Amino acid sequence: MGSIISMFFLLFSCINIEVQGQNNIFNVLNFGAKADGKSDDSKAFYGAWIKACNSNGTSAVWIPKGTYMLNPVTFNGPCKGPINFQMEGILTAPSEKSSLFLDCWIGFKHIDQLEMNGGGSLDGQGPLAWPYNRCSGKVEHCIPLTTSVKFAYMTRSRISNITSINSKGFHMSLFECSDVMIINVKVQAPDNSPNTDGIHMAKSKYIQIFDSEIATGDDCISIGDGSRTINVTNIKCGPGHGISIGSLGKAPNEDIVDGITVTKCNLTSTKNGVRIKTWSNPSYPNTVSNLTFDHIYVNNVANPIIIDQNYCPNMHCKQGFSRVRISGVAYRNIWGTTSTQVAVNLQCSQANPCENIELRDINLVYHGLPATSSCSNVYGEAYGIQKPPSCIRRLL
Ligand SMILES: *[C@@H]1O[C@H](CO)[C@@H](O)[C@H](O)[C@H]1NC(C)=O
Ligand SMILES: *[C@@H]1O[C@H](CO)[C@@H](O)[C@H](O)[C@H]1NC(C)=O
Ligand SMILES: *[C@@H]1O[C@H](CO)[C@@H](O)[C@H](O)[C@H]1NC(C)=O
Ligand SMILES: *[C@@H]1O[C@H](CO)[C@@H](O)[C@H](O)[C@H]1NC(C)=O
Ligand SMILES: *[C@@H]1O[C@H](CO)[C@@H](O)[C@H](O)[C@H]1NC(C)=O
Repeated sequence: MGSIISMFFLLFSCINIEVQGQNNIFNVLNFGAKADGKSDDSKAFYGAWIKACNSNGTSAVWIPKGTYMLNPVTFNGPCKGPINFQMEGILTAPSEKSSLFLDCWIGFKHIDQLEMNGGGSLDGQGPLAWPYNRCSGKVEHCIPLTTSVKFAYMTRSRISNITSINSKGFHMSLFECSDVMIINVKVQAPDNSPNTDGIHMAKSKYIQIFDSEIATGDDCISIGDGSRTINVTNIKCGPGHGISIGSLGKAPNEDIVDGITVTKCNLTSTKNGVRIKTWSNPSYPNTVSNLTFDHIYVNNVANPIIIDQNYCPNMHCKQGFSRVRISGVAYRNIWGTTSTQVAVNLQCSQANPCENIELRDINLVYHGLPATSSCSNVYGEAYGIQKPPSCIRRLL
C-alpha cells in the first residue's frame, strides 16, 4: 500500500513538474518568428521575453535552431523569476546604416538570474559596418560602432556556450553587473576588424570569465574603471590586442580598479599580453591595485608585459604625468616568445610611480635571442628566473 501511494505521488509530482515546465517555456516560433534569416524576428523574441519575464518560477525563452534576423532589441527586467535564454539558433544583426552607431544590438538589463546558453551564435554583420568606424586611435571624440550584446545592471547571471561572430563594435559588454559568469564562449572576428573588443566590462564586480576562446581585432578582454574582484581563467586569446586594464584616467570621477586575477591564459600572435594603460595628460586621479597575472603563456606576442602610463593617442592630449596610481601588481610564471625585443615594458608615471610590483619567474625569448626590459618609475621586487633581467627597483 505504502509503495502504491509513493508511486502515485512520484507519478503525480512528475506530471506536475512536466506541466509546469511546459507552461514556462516560450518558443519564439510560437510568437511569430519566421526564422528565415530575413524577416525581422525581434518582435517575436520580445513577445516571448515578456511572457517569460512575467511568469512565476523559472522560465525559458527558447530559440530553436534556425537563422533569425533581429532588429535592435532590449530585454528588460526585473522579472518574476530566473530566466533561461536558450539560444540554439543563429541570430543575425541588421546591416542598415541606422543600426551602425547604437549602444547595442541586443541588450539585457536589470535582470537577476539570467542563464544564456544553448550553443547558438550572434552574427553582428561587422564587415558591412567596419568601413564606417570613426574611432581610430587618433580621434578624440567619436561614436563607436554598435556593441553586439550588452548586459547592464545584471546580477547572479551566467552566459555560456554561445559564439559571437563579427560584431560591429564590441562583441560583449558588461556595465554595472555583479556576480556574472561567462564560461565557454567563443568570440570570432578578423585581426584587422577595428575596435572589436571581445569582452569589455566597466563598473562591475564579482565577474568570472572562464574557459573561452577569443580571436578578434582589438582587446580580447578589456577591463574598465570600477571593476573589482574579477577572475579571468583559462582564456585563449589571439589574434587580438591581449588582455587589458584600461584605459584609465580619461574621465573625472572614475571608480577604482581592484582585485583582478588573470590566470592560465594563452596569448598567440597578439599585440599585447597583459597590459595596464592610463592616459598621460589630461589625466584624472584613480587607483589600480591588487592585480595578479599568473601562468600566462605568450606565443609571438609584441608586448607580453606592459604598463603604459603615457597613453596619448591623439593630438589633443599631451605628454605628462598620469594621475592614476598603480600598486600591488604581481606577474608570475609568464613565459614564451616575444615578437619585439622589449618584452617587459613598464612605463609608470613620474608623478605616481608604480609601487609593490612583483616579477616572479619570467622567461621570455625574442627570436631565440635574449629579450630586454625597460622601466621608468617602477618599484618592487623580482624573484626566481628573470629573462629578461628585471629593471624594477627596490624602494629603499
Ligand atoms: C504569481 O505569484 C504571485 C505572488 O506569489 C501570485 O499573486 C500570482 O497569482 C501568481 N501568478 C500566477 C499566474 O501563478
Ligand atoms: C551547448 O548547447 C548545446 C545545445 O543546447 C548542447 O547540446 C551542449 O551540450 C551545450 N554544451 C555545453 C558545454 O553546455
Ligand atoms: C579563479 O577561478 C578559478 C577557476 O574556478 C579558481 O581556481 C581560482 O581559485 C579563482 N581565483 C580567485 C582569485 O578567485
Ligand atoms: C585581492 O584580490 C583577490 C582576488 O580578486 C581577493 O581575493 C583578495 O582578497 C584581494 N586582496 C586584498 C588585500 O584586497
Ligand atoms: C597556445 O595556443 C596555440 C594556438 O592555438 C597552440 O598552438 C599552443 O599549443 C597553445 N600553447 C599552450 C601552452 O597552451
